[in-house]
Amino acid sequence: MDFTGKVVVITGGSQGIGKAISFGFARGGAEVIILDINAELATQVKDEICAEGLKANFVQLDVSNTSAAQAVIDQIVKDYGKIDVLVNNAGIVSSKNFFESDERDWDRIININLKGVFNTCHAAMPYMIERKYGKIVNIASIAGKRGGGVFGTTLYATSKAGVIGLTKGLAREGGQYGVNVNAICPGPTNTSMLDSFQGERRLNFMNSIPLRRFAEPEDIANAVMFLGSDLARHITGEITDVDGGTMMD
Ligand SMILES: NC(=O)c1ccc[n+]([C@@H]2O[C@H](COP(=O)([O-])OP(=O)(O)OC[C@H]3O[C@@H](n4cnc5c(N)ncnc54)[C@H](O)[C@@H]3O)[C@@H](O)[C@H]2O)c1
Repeated sequence: MDFTGKVVVITGGSQGIGKAISFGFARGGAEVIILDINAELATQVKDEICAEGLKANFVQLDVSNTSAAQAVIDQIVKDYGKIDVLVNNAGIVSSKNFFESDERDWDRIININLKGVFNTCHAAMPYMIERKYGKIVNIASIAGKRGGGVFGTTLYATSKAGVIGLTKGLAREGGQYGVNVNAICPGPTNTSMLDSFQGERRLNFMNSIPLRRFAEPEDIANAVMFLGSDLARHITGEITDVDGGTMMD
């Protein structure tokens, strides 16, 4: 897919799925800007991308900080002139069940996973609307459809269900202005988030998936790039599972 001339902003791009998304767009010719809380890792990824002769930059951001997100997005538009694609990928998982969780756990997961998406969309969408062009791809999770389950518990699932709702609402509001808003629901994907699944537990988990494999980060990135491209110009408000056939809904 050709993203030459496109400016693509990716949150949580310093590792795992976000890193694959960053490389994917950069290899397609885009100018990639990684927003991440982890300055060290993000700088490494930026350097790795630039070492391939591709274009990448990094700005440190905690996505849960509303005013900081606004300032960073404003600055990107000043520096690059526009944002064509925004990928909201930054997220954390909680392994605590509901009754082990307290208000601090709730605030942390909702503020990063859900309010973080609100923050960047709220800051970036007006610029997209002004140009009558924009693609937003939010990374939710199949946990947001299932209420958690094997992967992710109630708080995580709730935050991702919120991302699905936000995606559909923004798609309705943004459509008339040429802004497409879609979400991906990954199933289990080979990143550090799955570190707790080892041995027999991992095997049983894998055998419950019709394709009998976990996703690689690139499998998710490929779907994100499609939804971020003009090939998907007539798709909006769509919640796309990339899960080896787990959901089939
Ligand atoms: N790995 C899976 O199995 C899986 C399944 C479904 C959905 N997801 C979702 O995919 C996304 C990426 O997950 P991953 O597996 O690559 O996780 P990861 O932990 O490898 O990467 C998460 C990234 O988000 C960044 N981040 C965390 N908090 C942040 C904050 N407050 N502000 C800015 N950046 C922050 C981290 O620094 C990191 O770069 C997440 O939204 C996750 O919920 C993952």
